[in-house]
Amino acid sequence: MSHAETIRDQFTRQAVPFSEAPSIADAAAIQLLIDVARAAPHHRSLDVACGPGLVVAAFAKVVAEAAGLDATPAMLDRAREIAAQRGAGNVAWHLGEAGALPFADASFDIVTCRFAFHHIEDPGAALSEMKRVTKPGGAIVVCDGVASDDPAKAAAFNRFEKLRDPSTVRFLTEREIQALFAGAGLMIDAERRYRLPAELEGLMQISFPNPGDEAKARAMMEAAVADDGLGMGTRREKGRVLFEYPTLICAARR
Ligand SMILES: C[S@@+](CC[C@H](N)C(=O)[O-])C[C@H]1O[C@@H](n2cnc3c(N)ncnc32)[C@H](O)[C@@H]1O
Repeated sequence: MSHAETIRDQFTRQAVPFSEAPSIADAAAIQLLIDVARAAPHHRSLDVACGPGLVVAAFAKVVAEAAGLDATPAMLDRAREIAAQRGAGNVAWHLGEAGALPFADASFDIVTCRFAFHHIEDPGAALSEMKRVTKPGGAIVVCDGVASDDPAKAAAFNRFEKLRDPSTVRFLTEREIQALFAGAGLMIDAERRYRLPAELEGLMQISFPNPGDEAKARAMMEAAVADDGLGMGTRREKGRVLFEYPTLICAARR
């Protein structure tokens, strides 16, 4: 399977369960994106790799028009359903690739991308495209999980994530994301950090590993209780294995 096929396969299966995960739907976490983007009623926003459109639906309450783009048709179907349930009429959906956005230069006041850079083979190219379609002075906002600065923990974290979700390419470190902004000629003007909570059973219920990989992923996370080997603060509480995804939001003005 090509990477594009793996993305479509995984996210067709994940569309509904992903959209229902409380940590993904968390309104306070999405509000951080709206705040750093300094969203206003006259703005037009785009969310790249929008998935089930939760970020788009939240921006739609604040801006004039909120668009979402994704490579997986089933995610866009789910996004249409959620937007309809929420009565969001000022939304538009586009099937497309983050690395080749089907929009003219300077089309949007705000361009966001959440929890997707680790699925994209060339995140630098995606960031350049985000910059291209943003108006001068507009906001470019990237949010993603980040790998530990400890190379062994970063490698183990990425190994776990690839076992759990074979569409993962690589979670970058904070410094690597910041370097992508610098490489795109973008100066970061706001950063936010939070730790997205997760629990092993719940995470596995919304994951679709390749045959045989689920047991390996579980074993890695359980072993990390002893040594925090993934850099995710793994611990056992009342029989449940809990951990967190360190998450970084970076915003820049074009
Ligand atoms: C983990 S989901 C995140 C969805 C959404 N951004 C959110 O935070 O709720 C990743 C999404 O990225 C999309 N995706 C992955 N690679 C892509 C690419 N190269 N271009 C467009 N969409 C992509 C997938 O189809 C999936 O919907």
